[in-house]
Amino acid sequence: MSETTDNLKERVRAFWQAHPCGTKFSDAPMGSRLFFERVEEHRYSKEWHIPGAADFAGAKGLRVLEIGCGLGTDGAQFALSGADYTGVDLTEAAIELAQKRFELFNLPGTFRTADAENLDFADASFDLVYSHGVLHHTPDTERAVREVHRVLKPGGRAVIMLYHRGSYNYRINISLLRRAGARLLKYEAGLKLVNKLTGEPVESLREHARQLKADADGYLAPGEFLNQNTDGAGNPLARVYSRKQARELFKDFAQVEIKTHFLNKRWLPVVGKMLTRGMETRLAARWGWHLWIYATK
Ligand SMILES: C[S@@+](CC[C@H](N)C(=O)[O-])C[C@H]1O[C@@H](n2cnc3c(N)ncnc32)[C@H](O)[C@@H]1O
Repeated sequence: MSETTDNLKERVRAFWQAHPCGTKFSDAPMGSRLFFERVEEHRYSKEWHIPGAADFAGAKGLRVLEIGCGLGTDGAQFALSGADYTGVDLTEAAIELAQKRFELFNLPGTFRTADAENLDFADASFDLVYSHGVLHHTPDTERAVREVHRVLKPGGRAVIMLYHRGSYNYRINISLLRRAGARLLKYEAGLKLVNKLTGEPVESLREHARQLKADADGYLAPGEFLNQNTDGAGNPLARVYSRKQARELFKDFAQVEIKTHFLNKRWLPVVGKMLTRGMETRLAARWGWHLWIYATK
């Protein structure tokens, strides 16, 4: 029997409640000023394309809604740029941390828990709806995109990042390399070798090994393998979209432009370290993992 949407949504919520996105990138006490500074430093050094792609500065004076605000790192940039910012997330963990971040840095913003598929805002409430790495984790992505359209004012813009099906990360890293590597995780020496080649922490690899041991067929089934190999072992849901699928998803918008960014050097054993930013940008424009959709209502 297939799982109900409500049950899947509850598993999605429980996963992100237990693993607020990005917390693993800071070893400072969670919720401290240093913690948020380190999260931000890591984010914009690894994903240095974000400020340009999101154009925080261009949101000055706009009513901005962020769906799936996580720790509020991008939200803080919108607020600093002078946007009238509202952040929502499915989990209380994210909302509490994002609110704490805004308080500590004395930034104006409004927060509440909400489900992207059922937003509690009137039609035409926002000039800009921003969502980074969120809507591919919700069971009914089509419905969430209809909500984005509904709450935008006519002429308003959606800036949405979804995972890219045509990326190096999906086609080669996840579908071939990680799949081959998964078999090595059964052995301690294999696990250490994968850690050495990819830099992925041993604890994370052990969690994958545990999942594999518990149910190898389930873990290796294509949809489940994708879930487990994007945002950490145990992630109940992740999807990837081609440019064509993204256009279909945003068909109700008057204008849609699509760009791709982000090629994590860790996914390119040996050669990754040699890539300059210029080379990375050119490769990511075709094979990047992050599909940025700019859609005007
Ligand atoms: C990968 S994190 C991204 C967080 C942040 N946007 C970032 O880029 O760091 C995914 C976030 O989406 C939230 N999320 C998942 N499904 C959601 C839904 N249906 N409605 C609102 N937020 C959701 C999760 O709680 C989590 O905080």
